[in-house]
Amino acid sequence: MAIRQVLTYPDKRLRVRARPVEKVDDRIRRLIDDLAETMYAEPGIGLAAPQVGEALRVFVIDLASPKGGELRAFVNPRIVRAEGEIVWKEGCLSFPGISEEVTRADRVRVEALDRDGKPFSLEATELLAVAIQHESDHLDGKLLIDRVSFLKKRMIRRQMAKWNAEHGLDAEAEAG
Ligand code: NI
Repeated sequence: MAIRQVLTYPDKRLRVRARPVEKVDDRIRRLIDDLAETMYAEPGIGLAAPQVGEALRVFVIDLASPKGGELRAFVNPRIVRAEGEIVWKEGCLSFPGISEEVTRADRVRVEALDRDGKPFSLEATELLAVAIQHESDHLDGKLLIDRVSFLKKRMIRRQMAKWNAEHGLDAEAEAG
């Protein structure tokens, strides 16, 4: 296992639409292990493969992070039902130090493959439902900043430009 570098906004690799995993093999299990280890190290409660530069439809969630114990891996996840509404103040490891209120469905049903390639279906509410929707967005190149108001977008862009400069990242701003 290895701790991977988490890409920060506006890295273009965060905007790529990830491709489905064809076979859940040892390479995918290693990716899942890396995602989990990186998530615990940061710490965060979820991490998607595109955030470490792997354009594959894989993410991990553990609401008990960084202590661990509730690790769930999702390969090729599909949200097949979404109901209700919930507002949650969300953070994202690709937007360090930023948290913003986002409106999501408060109950979702997701179908995915587990780390052994076995299909499963999960009904989730509240924070787990929010996390599943947030991480699913990453697989489509969609980010927290896309879900907030125009003024908040400007504020986030400014904060991230500052953060990237402070961390020696010469990131090119997104248009719009
Ligand atoms: Ni995120």
